[in-house]
Amino acid sequence: MNMLTRGLATGMMALFAASGAMAEAADDNLVINGEIEIVTRTEAPAHLSDTMDEIMSGWLFRGEETRAMEADDFDNPGMIFVEQGEEAWNTAEGSEGKSCADCHGASSEMAGVRPVYPKYVEAAGEVRTLEMQVNDCRENRMGAEKWDYTGGEMVNMVALLSSVSRGLPVNVAIDGPAQSTWEKGKEIYYTRFGQLELSCANCHEDNYGNMIRADHLSQGQINGFPTYRLKNNKLNAVQSRFKGCVRDTRAETFKPGSPEFVALELYVGSRGNGLSVEGPSVRN
Ligand code: HEC
Ligand code: HEC
Repeated sequence: MNMLTRGLATGMMALFAASGAMAEAADDNLVINGEIEIVTRTEAPAHLSDTMDEIMSGWLFRGEETRAMEADDFDNPGMIFVEQGEEAWNTAEGSEGKSCADCHGASSEMAGVRPVYPKYVEAAGEVRTLEMQVNDCRENRMGAEKWDYTGGEMVNMVALLSSVSRGLPVNVAIDGPAQSTWEKGKEIYYTRFGQLELSCANCHEDNYGNMIRADHLSQGQINGFPTYRLKNNKLNAVQSRFKGCVRDTRAETFKPGSPEFVALELYVGSRGNGLSVEGPSVRN
């Protein structure tokens, strides 16, 4: 071990071990409103088989009270924003005078869409996130202004689109035309960033289950997004979370909506293939 890696290893030990022991993920089941069964742990997808046996939702790493909030829509503060998303869904906007509902029907018609995004969109010739699809419809089909990528209106809409898919398995395609983007996302996931020289994998693959400062480290899955965080009392977009995590390594971060974060979202999404769509979820 050279000086540099020894220094790094010591720093990491301090970061993860200082706050104490390994804390088990909860042994608990999530059924929302007594009817939507959520798969919160399952066998890892084939592409992770060399790395881990089991994938787990971040829900299992939260405390009992936080977990309970997600089991009932009346207790889930994220559901207010789903209602706001529903209002926007039915509101005509832009030069064409159309609402989402005018073309797509009821929001429930979107069940099954969330679990396959990000995906390669043939007509666009690129991998797109849900946010990109929504803005494409706003700009090119409604003649309306694009929403800010991680702004409130967009997060509300993505929460609505997630909520109608709750319980369905995440099933992001990683082969065919999506493969090169997926590879790029994977590379970013394993790249060490910032002064702390930590990759996503150093925390969410090598150390999930451990405590980092006061936080119980999860696998960093994104099946629960958008997440209502008790820390900032609002719904948080997935790429805002990526940004926060990169910043915590004291690195410059990519911009939400950038090709790098789109690729990273595809890759991280695929690490959760088989978990249920859970958004909007509740986290600390
Ligand atoms: C220094 C350690 C660290 C690094 C590096 C890190 N994270 Fe995190 N991340 C955390 C902590 C702590 C949390 C909050 C507790 C939890 O859910 O794991 C978190 C939460 C998350 C969550 C939310 C999970 C949920 O269920 O709500 C996602 C997604 C995530 N991280 C993705 C990433 C990605 C992608 C990267 C790499 C760009 C990354 N993280 C890098 C520490 C880290
Ligand atoms: C003028 C008609 C029209 C309006 C208005 C419209 N869309 Fe679309 N949208 C389409 C068409 C056409 C497609 C591409 C074909 C398809 O997948 O249904 C599409 C695709 C999508 C997709 C991807 C669906 C998939 O299966 O991959 C999403 C998500 C979406 N729209 C959301 C919205 C939202 C949210 C709004 C309102 C803010 C909206 N759309 C407004 C016509 C419209």
